[in-house]
Amino acid sequence: MAQKVWGGRFREETDRLVDRFNASIGFDRRLYAQDIEGSIAHCRMLANQGIIAEEEALEIIEALGEIKREIERGEVSFHDDYEDIHSLIEDVLIDKIGVVGEKLHTGRSRNDQVALDIRLYIRDAIHVVIDLIKKTQLALITLAEENFDLIMPGYTHLQRAQPVLLAHHLHAFHEMLKRDLKRFQESLPRVNVLPLGSAALAGTTFDLDREMVAKELGFDRLSENSMDAVSDRDFALEFLFNASVLMMHLSRLSEELIIWSSREFDFITISDAFCTGSSIMPQKKNPDVPELIRGKTGRVYGHLISLLTTMKGLPLAYNKDTQEDKEALFDATDTVEICLGVMSRLLGAISFNGERLREATQEGVLVATDLADYLTLKGISFRKAHEIVGEMVLFALEREKELSDLTLDEMKGFTRQIEQDVYEWLDPMSSPKRRNIPGGTSPEIVKKNLERARQELEA
Ligand code: ARG
Repeated sequence: MAQKVWGGRFREETDRLVDRFNASIGFDRRLYAQDIEGSIAHCRMLANQGIIAEEEALEIIEALGEIKREIERGEVSFHDDYEDIHSLIEDVLIDKIGVVGEKLHTGRSRNDQVALDIRLYIRDAIHVVIDLIKKTQLALITLAEENFDLIMPGYTHLQRAQPVLLAHHLHAFHEMLKRDLKRFQESLPRVNVLPLGSAALAGTTFDLDREMVAKELGFDRLSENSMDAVSDRDFALEFLFNASVLMMHLSRLSEELIIWSSREFDFITISDAFCTGSSIMPQKKNPDVPELIRGKTGRVYGHLISLLTTMKGLPLAYNKDTQEDKEALFDATDTVEICLGVMSRLLGAISFNGERLREATQEGVLVATDLADYLTLKGISFRKAHEIVGEMVLFALEREKELSDLTLDEMKGFTRQIEQDVYEWLDPMSSPKRRNIPGGTSPEIVKKNLERARQELEA
C-alpha cells in the first residue's frame, strides 16, 4: 500500500472502495511528463530562492529525469494504490533519494500542481491539433486543385440550386477549418497562464519567484488570484468548445462524403482502403470511416457539456469535482486527433465521377437565376424577371425540358426582351464564371482562393 500524501491526520485505513473511487491514477498517469516538467521548474526556483539547497535541487531534478525515463520504458507500475500521478511521482522520488525528495512539495499543493499540468497538457494538444488541421486543409486544397475543372450542382435545402465549382464547395470546408485553427490559436494566451504559486487556494508563505517558473515553462502571464487559479477550468472548456466546433465541421464534411458516395448521388468513389463491407450482403461497400467521424462528434460535444455541468455549482476554491475534467479532455483530444488524421487521408482516397457531376448540373433548371439576371440586364426589374422565369420554368418542366431546350419563339412568348444571346446564359457549364465577385464561384476567384490557401498553409 502506497503511503498517502495526507496520511498524518488519519487513524483509520481508507475504505477499499473509496480508494478506488477517489483515485485518478488510472487516467491522470497521462500527465506524467507535464507533472515532471512542472516539478523541475518549481524545484529550480526553490533553490534559486534559497528555500532548498542547490545540491538538493540537483539531486531532485536528476531523480525526476530518471523517473521520467523509467515511466517511458514501462518500468514504473501505475498501481491502483496510488491516488494520482502527483502522489505517485513524489512517492517514487522519495523512494529513490529519501528525505531530500520530501522537500519538493514546498510551497505547492496538488491543487495548483494539477491546474498547471492540465494547462501544459492542453497547450501541447493545441499544437498537435493545429498541425493536423493544417494537414486536413492541405488535403482539401489538393483535392480541389486536382478537380478544378469540375462543375457540380450547389444545393440549398438539399435541392439543386445553382452550378458551382467543385473546388468552391471543397474550399468552403477549408474556410471552416481555417476558423477552427484560429480559434485554437487565439485560445493559447488564455491557456498559457501560470497557476503555480497559488498553492492550495490562498498562495503561500514562501517567497516563491513565480516569474522565474513562468519563464522556465514558457508561460506568458501569472494568474492574479490564487482562488480563481486553482478552481478555474475555463481554458479546458474553451478547448472542448473549439474541439466541438471542429468536430461539427468534420461531421458536415463526412455527411457530404457519405451522401456523395451513395448510389443515388454517385458523385464520388472512396477507395477500398477506406471502406468496409457487410457480413451478410456481399455487394456492400460502406462509408464507415466518414460515418464514424460523424458519430464521434457526439462524444466530443458530450465532454463539453459534461465539464460545463461539473463546473456549474462549484463553490470557490478547489473541489474534487474538477478531477472529472481529465477523462473528458483526454478523450476529446484523442478523438479530434484521430478524426483529423483519418479525414486528411480519406480526402486523398476519393475520386470524383466527372460525368455524373456534369449530368447532375445539366438537369434541374439550375440556370433559372442566371436567366432572371439576364432579363434584369435587359431592363426588367428583378422581381418581375423572377416571376417571368418562374412561369418559364413551369412551362419547361411540364414538357420535361430544360430552359435551354426551349425555342427562342417559345421564350419570346413570355417576354419580348429575350434574344438569341440568352442561350449563352442557359448553359450551366458557363454559369460559375459569371459569378466573378469576391467570395463567388467563378474559376478566377476560386483559383485565387486556392492559391492563397496553399500559400498560407505552406508558409
Ligand atoms: N487528482 C486531483 C485532481 O485531478 C489532484 C488534486 C487533488 N487535490 C486534493 N486536494 N485532493 O483534481
